[in-house]
This record gives sequence, structure tokens and C-alpha cells, in this order.
Amino acid sequence: MFAPNNKINLFGLMATLFVGQNKVFIPEVDSTNSYATTLLKNVNAIEGTVVFTDNQTKGKGQRGNSWIADSSMNITLSVILKPTFLSVKKSFYLSKITALALYDGLTETLNNSQFDIKIKWPNDILIDHKKAAGVLIENSFKEDGIIWSVIGIGLNVNQKKFENIEATSLGLITEKDHDLEKVMNLIFVYLEKWYLQLRNMNFDLIDQAYLQNLFRVNETSSFEKEGKKFKAKILGVDESGLLLVELENGETKHFEMKEIKMIY
Ligand code: BTN
Repeated sequence: MFAPNNKINLFGLMATLFVGQNKVFIPEVDSTNSYATTLLKNVNAIEGTVVFTDNQTKGKGQRGNSWIADSSMNITLSVILKPTFLSVKKSFYLSKITALALYDGLTETLNNSQFDIKIKWPNDILIDHKKAAGVLIENSFKEDGIIWSVIGIGLNVNQKKFENIEATSLGLITEKDHDLEKVMNLIFVYLEKWYLQLRNMNFDLIDQAYLQNLFRVNETSSFEKEGKKFKAKILGVDESGLLLVELENGETKHFEMKEIKMIY
């Protein structure tokens, strides 16, 4: 009997309504985020369009850092979304849903096995305390709304050697190679699932899932701010995406990503 599976269509492919239905593959590009932004400006690319590459030569990371990934080994892509329904003050929900999509995609790829997958604020994905994925979201805003968002995702898949000892990959932890296209399609499925929750304004559901999988939530962690180390308990994230912590003296503080670095 035909077993309905909401992730597989009749052709055995991952089913999405729009995320990844229009794909633009560039063998080599400076940054998929920059290319997607150019596409938006020049041809007003449709929502769900994905730009992906085998070789990203000038990948952009958070805090002005670069994102370096060996060619043909990893996932480097950007998804174009048009969340015109979202107010600017709620734009951090795009970070939350992207992190959740990666969390779900990796959990499924790793068969819900013993690996410890966590979302590190704001939207990194850690596996066994090492970074496997990073996200860079670039938005275009109007008065109180968003015109478009470019969701840039870098996921370490089959690369086994990293200069940064805090990095890992799916291949490194499982000691086998993974099918890049399969992993990529799974991320599209989950990104669309969480994006539709956002479009339905299911903020509480998104908040709960994000908090439930947040690295070190309700635990005391070490941080660094302007060269000084301090300890604080992570309470969660406020509406604008600032990290909410309780200092050792009981005071509650909100921090921006640029202000602090978590030591883990
Ligand atoms: C981070 O610093 O953690 C964010 C890294 C984001 C990297 C991805 S790779 C695809 C997309 N294109 C870019 O230039 N950056 C993002």
C-alpha cells in the first residue's frame, strides 16, 4: 500500500512547496549570499530560490569573519525568502527557524543517534560541542517590514580536516561520507516546515523548540567581554535576539552578539 510520507513526493524526491524548487548552481562563486542578493536586485528572484556552489572563494561569516570550506565537500548555500509578513522587531525569528531546520535536518541525517546536537546562540549548530554549521542572514528592510532575506548556510559535511579545532563535520563524527544533495534537500524540507510555522505566527512553538535545543540553557557558562572573563547563567533569548543571562550577582543582562563571546 502507498505509505504517505509528507517528505517524499511521488518521484521519491523530497517534497517542498517552494524552498529549493528553483535552484541556481554556480560551480564557483565568491559568496552565495552576495550572488543571491544580486539576483534579488537584478531579476527579483522568487521566494524559495536557492543559490548553491561547489566552491565558495570569499564566504562571509558572522562578526565580519570569513567562512572557509573545502570545495565539493560541504554545503554552502543561500535561500531567498520574502517574509513580508514579519515585523522588523521579530526578524530574529528567521535565525531561530534556520537553526531549527538545521537541527532537525542533522538529527534526521544522524538517525537520532547518540550525538549531542545543539543550537548555540544565535544560530550555530554544535555537534558534540564543536561547530558543524554556521548561518549568516542578510535582510532588506523597509519602514517596519522586511522585503527579503538571504539565509546563508554553511554546513560541514565531508571535510575531515579543519584548521580550527572547534570545527567538526558530519563525515568526521560518523566516519563516513554523506550525500550532499540528500542533506541539502532535507534542510529545505525542514526550513520550509519552520518557515510555514512562522508564517502562521506560531511564535510560541518556535520559541519552545529553540529554547529546548539551546546550548547551555539554564546552565552557567563562561563569557568574554572586552578581554574580561565572567560567568553567567543563560536564561534564554529576548524578542530582539539578545542573549538573556543572569550574572553571578543575580543581575539580569541582555547581550548582543558583537559584545560577548561564549567560552566553551
Ligand atoms: C558563521 O560565521 O558562523 C556564519 C557562516 C555562514 C556561511 C555561509 S556559507 C553560504 C553563505 N554564503 C556566505 O558567504 N556565507 C554563508
